[in-house]
Amino acid sequence: MDTQNYSYFIQEFKKTAKIDLALYKDDQMVRRLENFIRNKGFKDFKELGQLLQGNKDLVEELKGYITINVTEFLRNEKMWEDFYKVAVPEIIKGKRKIRIWSAACSSGEEPYTIAILLKEHFPTLDVEIIATDLDSTILAKAQKGVYKKNDIRAFDSRILSRYFEEVEADYLKVKDEIKRKVRFERHNLLEDPFPKMVDLIVCRNVLIYFKDDAKNEVYTNFSQSLVDNGILFIGATEQIFKPEQFRFKILKSFFYQKQKEGI
Ligand SMILES: C[S@@+](CC[C@H](N)C(=O)[O-])C[C@H]1O[C@@H](n2cnc3c(N)ncnc32)[C@H](O)[C@@H]1O
Repeated sequence: MDTQNYSYFIQEFKKTAKIDLALYKDDQMVRRLENFIRNKGFKDFKELGQLLQGNKDLVEELKGYITINVTEFLRNEKMWEDFYKVAVPEIIKGKRKIRIWSAACSSGEEPYTIAILLKEHFPTLDVEIIATDLDSTILAKAQKGVYKKNDIRAFDSRILSRYFEEVEADYLKVKDEIKRKVRFERHNLLEDPFPKMVDLIVCRNVLIYFKDDAKNEVYTNFSQSLVDNGILFIGATEQIFKPEQFRFKILKSFFYQKQKEGI
């Protein structure tokens, strides 16, 4: 890799796209971007960096390219069982209303999974779900809530007919009753202020792309976002090293609970 030219590109991309790629792991990012450069017939990172200024379309295209949006309903199903059997009962103790944040929610499958599971298992609970992502294009898709039938097959037919409606052949739309519970917003985990007084944060399969310092900064901010006893739910390939440094205690694999100060 040409380190000097990559650093120059990162600088130019930060100015135009307001995304700091220096905080993402280099190996994966460079490999992806080198593919982009090759496919587009550009010479190198220097040329790509020089072309960014004033070229909104290229900046947008690159943004779409670097954000890996893979997701699915009920992703890692067993963990969702722990979500409603273990995590939610912990956070609702004595509460009638809870606030959940699905951070880096991609095209919406994750926050809608949360809303559906809560409606199924806690029908009278008042729930507010904030769903955020860096990528505005993917958020527009999430907001629509329309998915290929084949992509929703994790849910059984009862759930499908209860929470989805047919809009066109092979496509289903999330019913308004569920959509109303989710508010989509653009949010950069590496730059923007974090929501406060959150009972549960679901942030899965994004921090794996960040360098350790950036990751630790995000965990610190998550801890500050959570109320005491609030819970952070992370991805199947993730693990928090020394969780107590962020005032977290392991509740169950992939679920970390924020401890009251002084415990
Ligand atoms: C692999 S998807 C994960 C989606 C979902 N959480 C899941 O586990 O199925 C990663 C998402 O992280 C988003 N992302 C990448 N960098 C981000 C950042 N700095 N702030 C917020 N979201 C980011 C991408 O746009 C993408 O939608």
